[in-house]
Amino acid sequence: MSTTFYMPPMSMMGPDAIKQLGSELQARNFNKALIVTDKALVDIKLVDRLTDELSAHDIAFAIFDGVQPNPTEKNIEQGLEILKIQDCDFVVSFGGGSSHDCAKGIALVAANGGHIRDYSKGVHLSAKPQLPLVTVNTTAGTAAEMTIFAIVTNEEDETKYPIVDKNLTPIIAVNDSELMVAMPKFLTASTGMDALTHAVEAYVSTAATPITDASAIKAIELIAQNLKKVVDNGEDRAARDAMQYGEYLAGMAFSNASLGYVHSMAHQLGGVYDLVHGLCNAILLPYVSRFNAVDSSERFADIAKAMGIDTTGMNAADAAEAGIVEIERLSASVGTAQKLADLGVKQEKLEFMAINALNDACSLTNPRKASTEEIINIFKQAM
Ligand SMILES: NC(=O)c1ccc[n+]([C@@H]2O[C@H](COP(=O)([O-])OP(=O)(O)OC[C@H]3O[C@@H](n4cnc5c(N)ncnc54)[C@H](O)[C@@H]3O)[C@@H](O)[C@H]2O)c1
Ligand SMILES: [Fe+2]
Repeated sequence: MSTTFYMPPMSMMGPDAIKQLGSELQARNFNKALIVTDKALVDIKLVDRLTDELSAHDIAFAIFDGVQPNPTEKNIEQGLEILKIQDCDFVVSFGGGSSHDCAKGIALVAANGGHIRDYSKGVHLSAKPQLPLVTVNTTAGTAAEMTIFAIVTNEEDETKYPIVDKNLTPIIAVNDSELMVAMPKFLTASTGMDALTHAVEAYVSTAATPITDASAIKAIELIAQNLKKVVDNGEDRAARDAMQYGEYLAGMAFSNASLGYVHSMAHQLGGVYDLVHGLCNAILLPYVSRFNAVDSSERFADIAKAMGIDTTGMNAADAAEAGIVEIERLSASVGTAQKLADLGVKQEKLEFMAINALNDACSLTNPRKASTEEIINIFKQAM
């Protein structure tokens, strides 16, 4: 079977990478950027690192700072309006996955028209490339700065849905680890567990290829070795840098191999309860992994090795279980091993969320097929 691989044509990585951006943009003759970000990043003045870089290269900009965590369709409409009023010819997202996904929605609809929901009922539905999108990433993370996905919340019916479209690929992705140093402990932990989930789900996906496998295994190694370090000491520059490479590699894997039930289910928790995406993944990952390992023990045994477990002498099933226990240990050590009931999740919503999870595009590539009852059961184990 033939496959197609997507990633941004240019990625700037490492400390102070943002300082390479201005000259690249100048060379492309852009006039005015719409910066898409959230209020917190404006308040702590992190966004100044971007605006200083643009100003130093005589690039005009307008700022839309209305992105909410779990960005909504309304956020995209608000941003589109500012883009039109301010006559911007390209979009720069600044922040974590929420800023990138909102910016992707704005850039896609700006070029293709209609409503963002129009692009959600299939893959690659847009006719034209989006308005040029540059992403400056500040978490490690969702990898939304480089993927072909955007995840949008529909507040009216409490659902959160993925858009999968090659035209969402940014033209330049910036991962400057210095911008990530300001992340507080819980954000570092939850976004890091999100990245680990991407790598694990991509590695066991039915759409995995040798390219995505290599990316996923290296991502798991980097995250296993560095997440605890960077949660303990946010100033650990080497660990921040390693996490930034780990999350990007995980993005290369899942943007092309897609994901599985952990994300399908986490999307519902985000849509109904507005919970932190990475935390939902961290909670669900061990339970979904045990469900999947029944059919994919060899793959989970590889994951165990990448997590640092010596699997010598173990059969595949035992090695798989040892890897899952190690994921649980890492999650507990960074504070993300929580219970859904403690986060306000109610039994009466489980069936609604399970049905929507099975309809989520991420479910298509999960290695073992579940019934609605089985998904409800996994939710119950995590309560
Ligand atoms: N498109 C994709 O491929 C993809 C993949 C996975 C997840 N997602 C989506 O991404 C969203 C989550 O993104 P996220 O986890 O990166 O968080 P986020 O973008 O929602 O940001 C969370 C909070 O962290 C703050 N923050 C961000 N960077 C910071 C920094 N360097 N220092 C201090 N504070 C900082 C923000 O201001 C915000 O208040 C979810 O909606 C999820 O569904 C998208
Ligand atoms: Fe994710």
